[in-house]
Amino acid sequence: MTTRIQIDMRPGPSQLLPSSFIDHASTTPLHRQIFQAYRDAIVEGRLHAGDRLHSSRQLAALLGISRIPVVGAYDQLLAEGYCESRVGAGTFVVGRLPVASGAAPSPLAAGEPGAPGGPRDISQGPVARLQPSPPWLVHPGAFALGEIAVDHFPFASWARLVARRSRDTDLAQVRYGGGMGFLPFREAIADYLRRERGVRCGAEQIVVVSGSQQAIDLAARVLIDPGNAVWVEEPGYWGARNAMAAAGARLVPVPVDDEGLDVETGIARAPEARAVYLTPSHQFPLGAMMSATRRLRLLDWARRTGAWIIEDDYNSEYRYQSQPITALQGLDRDARVVYVGTLSKVLFPALRIGYLALPPDLVARFLATRVAMDICPPTALQAAFADFIAAGHFARHLRRTRELYAEKRLAMGSAIREAFGDRLRIQGDRAGMHLTVIYEGFADDRELAQRAADRGLWTLPLSYCHLGPPQHRGLVLGYGGVPLAEIPAAVARLREVFDSFDGKAGS
Ligand SMILES: Cc1ncc(COP(=O)(O)O)c(C=O)c1O
Repeated sequence: MTTRIQIDMRPGPSQLLPSSFIDHASTTPLHRQIFQAYRDAIVEGRLHAGDRLHSSRQLAALLGISRIPVVGAYDQLLAEGYCESRVGAGTFVVGRLPVASGAAPSPLAAGEPGAPGGPRDISQGPVARLQPSPPWLVHPGAFALGEIAVDHFPFASWARLVARRSRDTDLAQVRYGGGMGFLPFREAIADYLRRERGVRCGAEQIVVVSGSQQAIDLAARVLIDPGNAVWVEEPGYWGARNAMAAAGARLVPVPVDDEGLDVETGIARAPEARAVYLTPSHQFPLGAMMSATRRLRLLDWARRTGAWIIEDDYNSEYRYQSQPITALQGLDRDARVVYVGTLSKVLFPALRIGYLALPPDLVARFLATRVAMDICPPTALQAAFADFIAAGHFARHLRRTRELYAEKRLAMGSAIREAFGDRLRIQGDRAGMHLTVIYEGFADDRELAQRAADRGLWTLPLSYCHLGPPQHRGLVLGYGGVPLAEIPAAVARLREVFDSFDGKAGS
């Protein structure tokens, strides 16, 4: 039942009531409603310093409610300093509030700093230039990047381990953890990286963070001073670009080809760069694996110039035509590589767990910076993941998903060839859970992505991955989350989207 009792506001110091409603149907408790009504009346200048409130008994009678909520509201007004109680006299509006002593605050004149619509004093530094995500980046649907095969994740086992760790009242799970992360988790990760990725590290070099994005942000804060040149792959990963830009880096786009980042062009464009961000195992988004020659050349340049290499190894666990290739970090003899890994692809992205394997002499600096921005990662989840590895679930899950994604990749390839013939060139499908289709001519890929989004398809325009003018038009398509059986229909729908461009795509 919605019974609304309006409290009128009568003049006279002892009779003032808030001019708002008590709503019996509201989910907000009565004591809170009464408190808010009085507080607003005081802050807005409708009640003045020294005004006396009704006695709680009177107000309860006027409102037809019990005294309990009224007493609760008055207690809160006293506790928060809007009112004061005078023994034997009642409850009064205090005199110290800037507006309680007189009329409502005067409206702000145009041009005053706080006036509506006027400029607001927030940082005009590098973050001011960051762009919000365009609509197709928040639209779900087939081909969404970063989606995993949810139906193949062992949620029952995972949930059991998380529940067990969450019930664990051992203080180590409950209190603030160390800024580096939970030691058994770091040991498990270091062991995994040495065995599977050829990374040279111990647990004392591992810092746990909330995904690669925080790892890259942290690396940018520690390694880069505003104005420093940083090489970024062109095309490349916008998430990393944003983190570098937010740190004030001067981004230097360096082209990629079949051998990965073109190191010589990087040296020609910015030999003095402080750092380079790259994805050498599976270049995002074009998919090249960086050649050994380029890897060694890059390490040599970094050694000579003192530059840092930020290696994002975001999805190297999934490689289809060869064994996973070893990380660039494993070749580094001069401790110049900051290695970044994530559980986003091998578990799921909402977990927000990633890690850095750091040069030993940078650990203290990274730790201090990490603690300044985010004290520590969630302990129970790290503990559950360490258990997940120890119980063999992780190795089993990786084995199964490798097979599954390999099947999906084949299904994507044949569906694309069937729907588009040779009008689309597939690139970057030798690893990971996405591929890129390149096409020549006609359509603006952002317009294409927008139209695909309208048809329930999520696609990433290749141009979005470019800092400068793109050389090719294309779309990046994730297939990890698309059920195998639905791939042909989703690709057929994509073909219809292409066809909607005046029939030019399919002809
Ligand atoms: C190149 C690259 N690095 C890292 C990530 C993963 O980021 P995070 O670990 O923050 O989820 C992605 C996700 O799509 C990516 O494309």
